[in-house]
Amino acid sequence: MPTHVAIIMDGNGRWAQNRGKPRHAGHRAGVETVREVMEICGRQGVRILTLFAFSSENWRRPKKEVKMLMELFFTALNREVRRLKKRNVRLRVIGDTSAFSSKLQKLIAESERITRDNDGLLLQIAANYGGRWDMTQAARKLAEQVAAGELQPEKISEETLAARLSFPDVPDPDLFIRTGGEMRISNFLLWQLAYTELWFCDTLWPDFGEKELLQAFADYSRRQRRFGKIAEQVEGEC
Ligand code: FPP
Repeated sequence: MPTHVAIIMDGNGRWAQNRGKPRHAGHRAGVETVREVMEICGRQGVRILTLFAFSSENWRRPKKEVKMLMELFFTALNREVRRLKKRNVRLRVIGDTSAFSSKLQKLIAESERITRDNDGLLLQIAANYGGRWDMTQAARKLAEQVAAGELQPEKISEETLAARLSFPDVPDPDLFIRTGGEMRISNFLLWQLAYTELWFCDTLWPDFGEKELLQAFADYSRRQRRFGKIAEQVEGEC
């Protein structure tokens, strides 16, 4: 089983359009899938689930859709936080949340606080997140420390940079899933996906469920992760 699963939840818009519904109906249906996937991951022993809910680039969508996504994020969080608390899920939002309304920022902080002591599944919602943003903000922190004389440039390593990324305290994703048929990473966890197993499916996010998720886990269990080594070395370690 993967310890950390990261998902790009794609296909909400097409799901709605296929049914002659407005795009927001797809996003609303997508929230139900989030709940289901979270519960299956919890049951299957996944420790961390990271979901791409809103990218740094999603602001480019029509104003109406952006507004609707913000409202949906607010209502879903507001409605689900007690359930997360009860189900022992710890919530963390990653990304530049300073761009959100103060009402949403407050709710995020409050939801993180309410679930802070839970030690079951860690649910990370990437909101106004971009892999390039994450690396840039980490580089800025390093530069500030160098400028303040707290860090020697020659001390900068993969570890010091990784320690300044959005979630330095959890392991990189083992399994990346993208629904909706596109085969790209779309500026998600660029640094953290370096050795992640990638899994794609055509199923649109609102139709994604237990069957597809268990298939992804089964395919993952058959992959050999070599991290740069050769097969014989990895087999020797087993
Ligand atoms: C991509 O589908 C989906 C999004 C940009 C939004 C994802 C948001 C949710 C599932 C709901 C909110 C989530 C939480 C955690 C409260 P798309 O719109 O790009 O679909 P398309 O490719 O078919 O147009």
